[in-house]
Amino acid sequence: MHEPFLFQAPARLVDFMRQADQPGLINLAAGVPGLDALPFPALRAAAEQAFASEGAAMFAYHHPEGDHALRTLLAQRLAKRGVADAASDRIVTTTGCTQALAALLSVLVRPGEIVACEAPAYYGLLELIAEAGARVLPLPVNGAGLDLDATEAALERWKPKCLVVCTSLSNPSGATLTEAHRERLVGICRASGVRLIEDDIYAELLDSGAPKPCRAFDDGSTVSFVTSFSKTVSPGLRVGYCLAGTPELHDAFAARKCQLDLHSSVLSEVVLRTFLARDSLDPHLAWLRERNLRRRTLALEAIGRSFPPGTEVDAPWGGYMLWVRLPDWVYLAEVTRAARAAGVVFAGGSAFFAVPQGENRPAFQMRLNCARAAEPDLERGVEILGKIVSGLD
Ligand SMILES: Cc1ncc(COP(=O)(O)O)c(C=O)c1O
Repeated sequence: MHEPFLFQAPARLVDFMRQADQPGLINLAAGVPGLDALPFPALRAAAEQAFASEGAAMFAYHHPEGDHALRTLLAQRLAKRGVADAASDRIVTTTGCTQALAALLSVLVRPGEIVACEAPAYYGLLELIAEAGARVLPLPVNGAGLDLDATEAALERWKPKCLVVCTSLSNPSGATLTEAHRERLVGICRASGVRLIEDDIYAELLDSGAPKPCRAFDDGSTVSFVTSFSKTVSPGLRVGYCLAGTPELHDAFAARKCQLDLHSSVLSEVVLRTFLARDSLDPHLAWLRERNLRRRTLALEAIGRSFPPGTEVDAPWGGYMLWVRLPDWVYLAEVTRAARAAGVVFAGGSAFFAVPQGENRPAFQMRLNCARAAEPDLERGVEILGKIVSGLD
């Protein structure tokens, strides 16, 4: 394992987001579901109800910590997942999970300080850590999620300011920590005085339903919890939230969030609150889990048919991303070029690993998003990739 190091983010989020909208491609790259995955009729009904009943207040300035009635619903949902002390006044709504992560890091971390994260980790997070001028401490991930023995040793040795972990269906590895591992992880962080930032954004997509978060094993003194509805309801609403932790941290977080944009979109929050109050979320989640399972199965079968021996992929317990590890003779840059020429794009593994400046490590992984392309295109796209990879042998 490396010592903590300064780095430049390996990929730019803005480039992935631009690519997401390019027509004519089988897009297995950006982690964005297709429009048909959105609960449009239910969102429309919620919006119409909100417009009829909320009046002009939807277009005025609002409370900096977010719509109170929405925060009450969020707290109730978290309480059902075992966060006994979840309460509306411990929650600040944010503009997506991105703002929750960015604001927390900016409150907690000064340049030169250490931030630990998973390796591989979500590239948007790597970009935020690099921008904060923090030194990164990448921790290994295996099929069961973060390697807890390695994490314990590394936290004890380096005492980072915080550790950021996507605890369910981590992006890109797809790994989910079991409940026992969550409890142990909280204990490790508590013992070494490291704040755990739990990114819960994919938890509701688990086929078995949302598990107890790490925050359920803590009172906020060790764990900060961030999430959003981008993966479950709508990324365009941009509604996320944060339970920062202690009253002092909550206060500092609320102040930073307010400095950034005063408050998040009232319109979005009121529509989401109405959607939740109409009990539209759970039926949608049930449908989404089925959709994701069907698409993952199609893609896994296509990988089995078309990728060369030595290809490995752990079937995740939900969600829509597959993390494919290729044999190490594969030259990924060549695959990327040939795939692009054939009209298929995917996310190359190197985007998810921080490496010290000047160091260049070959990547042998690809992340495939199964949620966006139409199902026949998904199968065809994966088969095209498999043929390209096999043809390099
Ligand atoms: C692990 C993780 N965290 C945060 C985000 C950003 O979420 P949002 O769109 O709510 O800002 C993403 C988006 O892909 C993600 O994968």
